[in-house]
Amino acid sequence: MSRFAPNRYRGKLIIVEGIDGSGKSTQLSLLSQWLRSQRLAVSFSEWNSSDMVKGTTRRGKKKQMFTPTTFSLIHATDFADRHERYILPMLKAGAVVCADRYAYTAFARDVARGVSRAWVRNLYSMAIKPNLAFYFRVPLDVALDRILGGRAALKYYEAGMDLDLSQNIVESFRIFQSRILEEYEAMSGEMGFHVIDATQSIETQQQQMRQIVMDRIGAALENDILRSPLEIDRAG
Ligand SMILES: Nc1ncnc2c1ncn2[C@@H]1O[C@H](COP(=O)(O)OP(=O)(O)O)[C@@H](O)[C@H]1O
Ligand SMILES: [Mg+2]
Repeated sequence: MSRFAPNRYRGKLIIVEGIDGSGKSTQLSLLSQWLRSQRLAVSFSEWNSSDMVKGTTRRGKKKQMFTPTTFSLIHATDFADRHERYILPMLKAGAVVCADRYAYTAFARDVARGVSRAWVRNLYSMAIKPNLAFYFRVPLDVALDRILGGRAALKYYEAGMDLDLSQNIVESFRIFQSRILEEYEAMSGEMGFHVIDATQSIETQQQQMRQIVMDRIGAALENDILRSPLEIDRAG
C-alpha cells in the first residue's frame, strides 16, 4: 500500500534508503557526481535538513523531551517543508532530485519507535512517488562495524536511547537498528525498492546503481532533464 502521488513532472526523483552505515550517502554522492558529469541538473536533499525545524529539533533533542509521536511529527513537518519548497519545484524545473532518505525512513524508524504504521504512512501521503528507490541491504553487524569504526560517539536519539531498550548505548543502537532493518525488509517488496547488496564493494554497487538508472530512466535523462550549458572556452 503506497499512496504516494505519481510524479507527473519533467524531473526525476531518485532516493536511497537503508540502516545507518549501509553506504547510502557514499553511493548517492557517487551517483550524483556521475549524473553531473553528464551536465544533467542534479539537486540534492537530505533528511531532517529544513531550516524551519532544525532549531526546534536541536533544542528538543538537547533536552531529551521528544516522545515517539512528537518526533514523528517533527520529521513529517521537515519533510513537508522540503517537499513543497525544494523537491517539487526542482522536479517541475526538470532536475534530477537525489534524496538521501525519504518517507520510507520514517516508515521504518518511527514504527521501530512504536508509532503505528498506518498513522506514519498517512502523514506522508502527500509525497511524490520516487522514480527510483534504492535500498541498501546490509547485515546489522557489517553496518555497525562501519559506523563504530569510523566515528566518535553515538547520539542519544540515533541510538534509540529514548526507548529504554538498554542502558548501554551501543547495545541500544544495535537493538534499535535491528528493528529498523526489520521494517525495511518488511516493506521492501511493497514499495518496489531496487535492492542492492550493500556488502559488496563501493565500485560494484555503484555500477549496479548506474545500470538500473540507465535501464529505468535513461531515456528520460537523455530527453527531459535540464542540462547545464556547455562551458564556453574562454581561452580559445
Ligand atoms: N561498500 C562499502 N564497503 C566498506 N565500507 C563502506 C562501503 N560503503 C561505505 N562504506 C563506509 O562505511 C561508512 C558509512 O557509509 P555511509 O555512506 O556514510 O553510510 P550511510 O549514509 O548509509 O550511513 C563510511 O565510513 C563509508 O566510507
Ligand atoms: Mg548517510
